[in-house]
Amino acid sequence: MSSAININLNIKGLIFDLDGVIADTAHLHYKAWCQIASQWKFDLSVDQNEKLKGVSRKNAMQKIAKWAGKSFSEKELEDFAEQKNTLYLDYCESLSHKDALPGVVSFIDECRRTGLKLAVGSASKNAKIILQKLQIIDLFQIVVDGNMVEKSKPHPEVFLKAAQFLKINPSDCVVFEDSQAGIQAALNAGMKNIGIGSSDLLNCNAHIQSFEKYNLKKLSTQINN
Ligand code: BG6
Ligand code: MG
Repeated sequence: MSSAININLNIKGLIFDLDGVIADTAHLHYKAWCQIASQWKFDLSVDQNEKLKGVSRKNAMQKIAKWAGKSFSEKELEDFAEQKNTLYLDYCESLSHKDALPGVVSFIDECRRTGLKLAVGSASKNAKIILQKLQIIDLFQIVVDGNMVEKSKPHPEVFLKAAQFLKINPSDCVVFEDSQAGIQAALNAGMKNIGIGSSDLLNCNAHIQSFEKYNLKKLSTQINN
């Protein structure tokens, strides 16, 4: 147990997004969406893909169809989303422990040792499958995924559910997020947040490139400033 770490840490729980925060899967979502879009001769750009991060599969499908200037029925959109998911799950087939993003598992281990409560808050309906493949699902008290919420990020539902399960106040939680929708969801939930990866993320309390060499001491400096 490290008591020194708890001294400056005014929080009780951490909520991690999955894709692009814990798991190296964001590029696999993009690859699968590109394949769907290419059927309509539409090139999905990297910038457009940023706007899909953190967003539910259904909402992402609607956005891409709109950008491509396509008008589909609900049923057609559902079928395309299903096709995308089949491609995505194929890409995920070979995921294993090594596909956790650098440093994240040791950071989570440190958090566990200090007694912090830990949750995953993800828009993905595949979150539990991915965490099992990474062999880290047991590190979290609760995984709130896309099957458990009605409203997609930036709505705060996913994070509020996680905090409710952990029995802690939203203001005692820190969210780790790689998407703008997720940062906004954390703010809407009244939670502090740390942006991961892209330095273009707006409104984060603090930002880190990755969890490499990250620890609770660094987090305490970021959120207490
Ligand atoms: C989010 C990803 O975590 O989950 C999005 O950032 C993805 O790219 C969304 O669309 C839904 O995921 P899934 O696995 O349910 O299609
Ligand atoms: Mg993400």
